[in-house]
Amino acid sequence: MKKILVTGGAGYIGSHTVVELYNSGFEPVIVDNFCNSDKKVLSGIKAITGHEVTLYEGDCTDKAFMQQVFKQETLAGAIHFAAYKAVGESVAQPLKYYQNNIGSLLVLLDCMQAFAVNNLVFSSSCTVYGTPDQLPVTEKSPIKKAESPYGYTKQVAEQIIADMVRSNSGLAAIALRYFNPIGAHPSAKIGELPLGVPNNLVPFVTQTAAGIRKELVVFGNDYNTPDGTNIRDYIHVVDLAKAHVKTLQYLAGKSGFYDVINVGTGTGNSVLEVIASFEKVSGQNLPCRIGNRRPGDVEQVYAAVEKATRELGWQAGYTLEDALRDAWRWQLALAGKEGAR
Ligand code: NAD
Ligand code: WQD
Repeated sequence: MKKILVTGGAGYIGSHTVVELYNSGFEPVIVDNFCNSDKKVLSGIKAITGHEVTLYEGDCTDKAFMQQVFKQETLAGAIHFAAYKAVGESVAQPLKYYQNNIGSLLVLLDCMQAFAVNNLVFSSSCTVYGTPDQLPVTEKSPIKKAESPYGYTKQVAEQIIADMVRSNSGLAAIALRYFNPIGAHPSAKIGELPLGVPNNLVPFVTQTAAGIRKELVVFGNDYNTPDGTNIRDYIHVVDLAKAHVKTLQYLAGKSGFYDVINVGTGTGNSVLEVIASFEKVSGQNLPCRIGNRRPGDVEQVYAAVEKATRELGWQAGYTLEDALRDAWRWQLALAGKEGAR
C-alpha cells in the first residue's frame, strides 16, 4: 500500500482526506502538532474506516523531526495541509503566518528532495485570485495583489513549488485552489472544530442554530448581486477530500510537473441562499440580521471547474443542501458529546 504523508492531517480538510485515502487503498501517515485540532479526530477516523491512524505528533517547521519521519516511513507522496488559516489574524500577526505557512513548506520540500519523494499536493486557495475580473474564475485568471499575509503565503508557496519543480526534475506537484469548504463527514464522526468564535459563515450558522451564538450577522446586503449579499462557491469537504486522492493518482509516475487546479462546485450561492437552504434542511429558524459589510470581502467568486473534470476526472457530487445537512448533523453530534471547543 502506498504511504502518503498528510501534514495537518488531524485538521478539518486533512481528516476528511485521510478517510478518503484509506477508502482508496492508500496508507496515510499524519504529521500534526494539534495547534488547531483535537486528538479526538483520530477516534472519529477509526470509527469510519476501521484503521488505527499512523501519527507523528510534532511541528512541520522542525526539520530534525521531519527528517525522522521521512527516515522512518517509505513515502510515495505528500499532501501539505499544515498551515494557519485565519485571514484577520494574519493581518495582525504576519510573522506567525510567514513562519508557519512558508517555514513548513520549505522544510517539507527539503525533506522530499533529500528522500526522493516526488509527488506533492498543496492546499492553496481561491484567495489568490482576489477580486476576479471575470466569473467563473479559471486557473488562467491573474493572481491579484494579496489582501492579507495569509493570502500572500498561498501565492508565495505556489511560486516556491513551481520554482522547485523547475529546478528539480523529479518533483511533480499540484496546487489545489479550494473555494469555500463546508460540511462534515455524513457519518457525523468528524467535522470542523473552530476554536472560539468562528470566522466562517457555516460554522457560525450551525452554532447560532444550536444556541451557542445569539444571531448571525449578514455582512452587507448592498452588493451588486441579485439579493445584495456576497456570492461564494461552497464545496462539500468530502468532495474536496476526494479531489486530493484523484490528484495523487494523477501525479503518480509524473516528474518535472507543476499545475494549479480549482476545486469548487462551479456554482455560486449568496449568503441569503445559504441561510434559506440551512433553514430548510435543518428545520431550524435561524436568528439573523443584516449588518455592515466586512472589510476585505470580495463581492462574488465562484470556480470554473472544467480543468478539474478534464485533468483529474473529478467533480463535486454533493449539493449545498447535502453539505449544510451534514454540517448541522455534525453540530448536533458535537453538542451531544462535548459542546464546541
Ligand atoms: P485546520 O486548521 O483545520 O487544519 C490544519 C492542521 O494543521 C491542524 O490540524 C493544525 O493543528 C495543523 N498544523 C498547523 N501548523 C502546523 C505545523 N507547523 N506543524 C504541524 N501541524 C500543523 O485547517 P483546514 O481548514 O483543514 O485547512 C487545511 C489547509 O487548507 C490549510 O493550508 C488552509 O490554508 C487551506 N485552505 C483552507 C480553506 C478553508 O476554508 N478551510 C480554504 C482554502 C485553503
Ligand atoms: C463567506 C460569506 C461573508 C460570516 C474565507 C477566506 C478564504 C478561504 C475561505 C482559506 C462572505 C459572509 C460570513 C458571518 C456573513 N480560506 N458571512 N456573516 O470570506 O469567502 O473566505 O474562507 O483560504 O481565504 O477568506 O469565507 O465563510 O468567512 O464568508 O455574512 O458571520 O459569508 O461576508 O460573504 P470567505 P467566510
